[in-house]
Amino acid sequence: MIFGNRATYDKMISELEIKAYDRIFEIGYGHGLGVRKISSKFDCFVSGIDYSELMFNEATKRNRKYIENKKVELYLGDFLDSELISNQYDKIFCINVIYFWDRLDKPFSKIIYGLKKGGTFCLYMVHSDDLKKAKYTQYDIFNKYTLDHVVDNLKLAGFSDIKYKFNKGYLIKCRKLTA
Ligand SMILES: C[S@@+](CC[C@H](N)C(=O)[O-])C[C@H]1O[C@@H](n2cnc3c(N)ncnc32)[C@H](O)[C@@H]1O
Repeated sequence: MIFGNRATYDKMISELEIKAYDRIFEIGYGHGLGVRKISSKFDCFVSGIDYSELMFNEATKRNRKYIENKKVELYLGDFLDSELISNQYDKIFCINVIYFWDRLDKPFSKIIYGLKKGGTFCLYMVHSDDLKKAKYTQYDIFNKYTLDHVVDNLKLAGFSDIKYKFNKGYLIKCRKLTA
């Protein structure tokens, strides 16, 4: 998983247009590769949540230096049950995570609540048509979403300026423009 995702993380980081002192939150940080890439390059604060203890331990090991310097904070828990403080983050992102969410309205509402006005949310996903072809996604836990369904849910949650790029999967970027 980790090597396949390096390129996706690079594209995601470029789309996030990170600035000094940004507060960034990653949902489903997995091995913590993205967290480390960001904290090693930018002077900003990164936090994130993942519900896998294995991933939490891996990501903590990988980011120990930045955790000790208080540039990174990693949580173990379910994003869907977690509380985000309102207007906290400049950027929130997730890569290959939304398949594990049975509905998108609740998580997208939580994300927009946690973003500052003008903040950006980016997600990467493989389209349902391509997921249907893969062996490992045949289990029931994989929700296979179409681009239209995701975009409709982003609009319903209140996101604006929704754009996307395609390269194997969709990198969707949108903004919170209202307070
Ligand atoms: C397919 S992996 C992707 C990991 C990483 N983003 C990457 O691209 O390498 C999905 C990750 O999201 C986490 N995850 C899925 N749903 C979650 C939720 N509701 N709350 C916290 N973590 C979640 C899983 O534990 C897993 O680490």
